[in-house]
Amino acid sequence: MFNSKIAGIGHYVPERVVTNDELSQYMDTSDEWIKERTGIEERRFAEKHEETSSTMGAKAARIAIERAGITPQDVDFIIFATLSADYYFPGGGVLMQRELGITDQEVGALDIRNQCSGFLYGLSVADQFVKTGMYKNVLLVGAEMHSMGLDFSTKGRGVSVIFGDGAGAVVLQPTEDNTQGVLTTKLHSNGTHAEELAMINPGSHGGYHLGKEKFGYPEDPTFKSIFVTQKMIDDDLIYPNMTGQLVFKTAVVKFPEVIKEALDSCGLQSSDIDMLVPHQANLRIAQFVQKRLGLSDDQVFNNIQKYGNTTAASVPIALCEAWESGKVKEGDLVCLAAFGSGFTWGSALIRW
Ligand code: ACO
Repeated sequence: MFNSKIAGIGHYVPERVVTNDELSQYMDTSDEWIKERTGIEERRFAEKHEETSSTMGAKAARIAIERAGITPQDVDFIIFATLSADYYFPGGGVLMQRELGITDQEVGALDIRNQCSGFLYGLSVADQFVKTGMYKNVLLVGAEMHSMGLDFSTKGRGVSVIFGDGAGAVVLQPTEDNTQGVLTTKLHSNGTHAEELAMINPGSHGGYHLGKEKFGYPEDPTFKSIFVTQKMIDDDLIYPNMTGQLVFKTAVVKFPEVIKEALDSCGLQSSDIDMLVPHQANLRIAQFVQKRLGLSDDQVFNNIQKYGNTTAASVPIALCEAWESGKVKEGDLVCLAAFGSGFTWGSALIRW
């Protein structure tokens, strides 16, 4: 058995900066409200019709691949995590593969749909493949183009102000040094509140969970099955919805719990963590978790102020910036953790 180590890491964020003040031109919100409740000062939005989650993923991937000292042709498995896929199907993994120009190899591409914990789920899957010796260069990417699917009217302000676009990527390779690399990953989910943080439509639910009438399905659905009805569009049911306070309250319990689970399984304590890189959902959540674990400011990396919540991309973007700025060094114990839609959550410990 091998350990898997992050051999290369990269990130990409679009050039266009969208400030809180700019958002307040489209909806009733303010810089003060957004900063106070979330810590977000600005976010990046991709150029519509020119970029997608898979093209941004490819840009981040190229950097990670180069830093790993390999070429795109050396990648032997792809894992792509997003909630804002280019298409309903196929998933973004094959599109990113094509964008990277590595279709000749016909390597497998797996799509992960675990929203904010997508990168953690992907890391755990990649780790199992590398550990067993099945693959030697796994490309794991988290990428999101939220700006294409948010409600920028006042009705959508509770959701739309927190999200941003971007991508992060890592290449995982095997190492025979079993004190290095991914030490453990822990994954959890609980579907009880699945609809409390969700984009329901388009979907195949047909109203099963939430009632048919609400969505305007046709009287005789047998041969008129449709994913999107006119009512969904008219009633703004095609945007994400979130019961923010429930998500917040659950997140501040599950983050410390799953981090402690990972530490306990390795015989480590929170004081052993050199750098915690939490999913950038809300600065207040990260600060709460920091306090609960008794970590100093130097032990936690946040960049939500600049990028907002980039969901599956947030952990690899933050990890990449932490590494680029010298805050993650060889030998450091790095802890990653995420919580989000599903609800799903997870953690990982990495000896850098
Ligand atoms: N600007 C101004 N006012 C607003 C805005 C806004 N952007 N958004 C909501 N409000 C108003 C509401 O209408 C409400 O007004 P009312 O009291 O008159 O009814 C008031 O502010 C309070 O609204 P809440 O929703 O209770 O605000 P809260 O303090 O909970 O903050 C927030 C909302 C920032 C979304 C917070 O709940 C949060 O961060 N939750 C966790 C988000 C998260 O972690 N998501 C997981 C990842 S996302 C994923 O997995 C896809």
